[in-house]
Amino acid sequence: MGDLPRKGREVLVVRNIGCLVTGNPWKSPQGDDPWKSPQGDDPKRGDALGLLTDAALIAADHLVSWYGPQAEMPAVPLGTQILDAHGNAVLPGLIDCHTHLVHVGDRSGEFALRARGQTYLEIAAAGGGIMATVRAVRAASEEHLVETALPRLRRALARGVTTIEIKSGYGLTVDDELKMLRAMRSLSARQPVEIVPTFLGAHTVPTEHRGRPDRYVELLVRDLLPQVAAQRLARFCDVYVEQSAFSVAQARTILTAAREHGLEPRLHTDQFNALGGCALAAELQAVSADHLEAARPRDIRALRRADVVAVIMPLCEVYLGRGRPAPGRALADAGLRVAVASDFNPGSANCEDLAVAATLAVSRCKLTVEEALLGITRHAATALGRDDLGRLHVGAQCDLVLLDTPSPVRVVSDMGANHVDRVVKAGRLVHSRDG
Ligand code: NIG
Ligand code: FE
Repeated sequence: MGDLPRKGREVLVVRNIGCLVTGNPWKSPQGDDPWKSPQGDDPKRGDALGLLTDAALIAADHLVSWYGPQAEMPAVPLGTQILDAHGNAVLPGLIDCHTHLVHVGDRSGEFALRARGQTYLEIAAAGGGIMATVRAVRAASEEHLVETALPRLRRALARGVTTIEIKSGYGLTVDDELKMLRAMRSLSARQPVEIVPTFLGAHTVPTEHRGRPDRYVELLVRDLLPQVAAQRLARFCDVYVEQSAFSVAQARTILTAAREHGLEPRLHTDQFNALGGCALAAELQAVSADHLEAARPRDIRALRRADVVAVIMPLCEVYLGRGRPAPGRALADAGLRVAVASDFNPGSANCEDLAVAATLAVSRCKLTVEEALLGITRHAATALGRDDLGRLHVGAQCDLVLLDTPSPVRVVSDMGANHVDRVVKAGRLVHSRDG
């Protein structure tokens, strides 16, 4: 049930919630009894959303302090801000756990080249792909990176995203990688979406180091990682394991060093080729393994053994027109937590819409709609190592999405529609459709 708000605390109430998605199905706020839900929400199922109907919720000092049946809502201090959900659904704030949102430049030409039959890897080998964005980012000022990212974050918030992971990886020199990460830091201070920064200096071997990839790995480990860590510019370190990028051995070197500097490992792996990145993710107990379109049964078993969160990003496969979706069903059936992310980037997934990623996670990767919703909330939080986000429990950060419909499933089923009416971040109303 939680503490009742005391005087002097900043309190927010959301009442008249037709359907509250807690993402927390195993425990009732009133005790250990399984929830009784008219939706037939079976608390033993891994995809149960933890639905509560006719509910209310109270936040105090940024955290969830109580939720339950509206009829049982405790009294709140006079002057408390009250949001009326008008009988509609309320969800935990959405989390996009894998993006490359900070970027500049134009790669529409690559889209056209692919339409004529060239592949993503061929374009990369010819000096386009990631390197095209690297050239644009190197030429851009830090302030320009910030200015171009701000409207993207505003649009993400308007779609219900309250936390977003953003990777560096378009600088690939000491100065330019630090510039990207500093841009993320100033973005954090300038708008409400919480940014989780990931250092992706190992996105590709930059042109000036081609043919000597180990020299670049050395530069990453010796010159860059210590500065990223000392300036506390990133929480995670990511490596792209692929033919066009880094080998498993190089990734091991980089991620082991990263961990010594306090950065937790995650991996881009098995996008086009299964090179053993999943086994490495398991060996290093990485927090997540992302892409996985080419993952084989033994790769899935490796992830399962180490309880690595699988992040699938179906917008990427659809955007590239590959015809090979990530094996979402097999990953979920193996007992893995499957998160769903946009992978928003200018080359392989130029789409900002996390909800559409969730739609495609169902239609392409065969998740259930409940799994897809958990993929952009609870499991996405786990992929970011955050227990205080992605589900609503007493003590969780109060990040909420108030919809314009009583049915939370419509976030996933109504492809490209935006059902988000209002957004609460850390107990404060930060977006309202009517301004
Ligand atoms: O996740 N795979 C590597 N990185 C991105 C693509 C980045 C780019 O093409 O600019 C991805 O798909
Ligand atoms: Fe990516």
